Amino acid sequence: DMGGHDTYMHKEIAEQAEAVDRVLRGRIDDRFATVHLGGLNLEPGEARRVRRIKILGCGTSYHAGQIGAQLIEELARIPSDAEPASEFRYRNPVVDPDTLYVAVSQSGETYDVLAAVQELKRKGARVLGVVNVVGSAIAREADGGTYVHAGPEVCVVSTKCFTNTVVAFALLALHLGRIRDLSVSDGKRIIEGLRRLPGQIDEILKTEPEIKKLAREYADAKSMLFIGRVRGYPVAREASLKLKEVSYIHAEAYPASELKHGPLALIEPAMPTVAIVPDDDLLEKNRAALEEIKARSGRILAVAHQVQEKADHTIVVPKNEDELDPILMGIPLQLFAYHTALALGRDIDKPRNLAKSVTVE
Ligand code: F6R
Repeated sequence: DMGGHDTYMHKEIAEQAEAVDRVLRGRIDDRFATVHLGGLNLEPGEARRVRRIKILGCGTSYHAGQIGAQLIEELARIPSDAEPASEFRYRNPVVDPDTLYVAVSQSGETYDVLAAVQELKRKGARVLGVVNVVGSAIAREADGGTYVHAGPEVCVVSTKCFTNTVVAFALLALHLGRIRDLSVSDGKRIIEGLRRLPGQIDEILKTEPEIKKLAREYADAKSMLFIGRVRGYPVAREASLKLKEVSYIHAEAYPASELKHGPLALIEPAMPTVAIVPDDDLLEKNRAALEEIKARSGRILAVAHQVQEKADHTIVVPKNEDELDPILMGIPLQLFAYHTALALGRDIDKPRNLAKSVTVE
C-alpha cells in the first residue's frame, strides 16, 4: 500500500519524520542526559575499555556507518572508522580484542556483512548489530545491538532506513560518550538537537516543489560531482549513490579538499557539482571550493544553511547541532534523486540490475 504516493521511494522519503520519532521514542534519559539502548549487552565497564570501533556494512548502510563513525569519534572520543564489509572480510584483517565491531544492515541479511560477523565471532571478537529488520540473520548472530525502527522499506533504494540508521548511531555515540567523557551539558545539547529532528525533516520535505524544479534543470547532465568535507563527505557519497541508482546518471563523490588534486580537471558547464556546505567551522573552506569551481564555469547546486553566493542554486536546510547536521543535509538530495529519476522516466522502485537484499557473495 503506497498510501497515495506514486512510488514506495516517495512514500518512504515522506515517512522520515515519523520514523525518526520512532527510533528516539522511550530511549532518552533527561536526568542523566543520555539514552538507553536496551539490547546493547555492553556493560559500562566494558564500554569504557573499548579502544577502537570498526563499523562494517555495504552500500547505503556503509555510508550511514561512516557518519556513525564520525559521531562516535566526536561524542565518545573513541577512534572509529567504517569499511565496506566485503573489503574487510577479504583482506585478512587484524582482529583486535580491544576493538568493538559494529555490523550495520537494513535487511540484516546481506551476505558480505553476515560473513564478516561470523568470521569476527569465530575469532572471539565482540560484534554489535545496527539493524532494521527484527530477528534477521545479522541481528541473531550479533552479541547485541540496537534496532533502527525505520519500519518496512520496500523500495530497492534505501532512504528512510539510511536516516534512521544515522540517528541510531547518534544514540549509540551519545550513550558511549556519556559513559566516557561527554559532559552533561553536551549530552543535553545533543538530546535537544535530536528532539528537533522530526520537525526539521518536515520543514525540508515542504520544499519538495522547489527541489523538483531543480531536479528537472539538472536532469540533462551526463555526470555530476558531489563534494563535501568531513561531516559533509559521507553525505555527498550517499547522495551520489542515490542519484546513480535511481536516475542512472553517473555521479562521483569527492572530499572538497581533494578537488585540486585532480577532479578540478573535470569542471566545465556540462559537469555540475552538488556541494554540501554546512554552517560549521569549515564553512569558509567550503566557500573557497565553490569559488574554485565557479572560476572554471562549473554549475553549482549547494545544500547549505544559508544561500551561497557562488552557487547557482542553494537548497537551504534548517540548522541543527553541528554533529547532527549530516542527518538532515542528505534528505533534500533524496528528493533530488527521486525527481531526477522521475523526469527521466526511470523505474524508481526497482532500478535495473539491483535487488533489495544481496544474499549472495
Ligand atoms: C542503496 C542500497 C544498497 C544497500 C546495501 C546494503 O540504496 O539499498 O546499497 O544499502 O545493499 O543492504 P543492507 O543495508 O540491507 O545490508
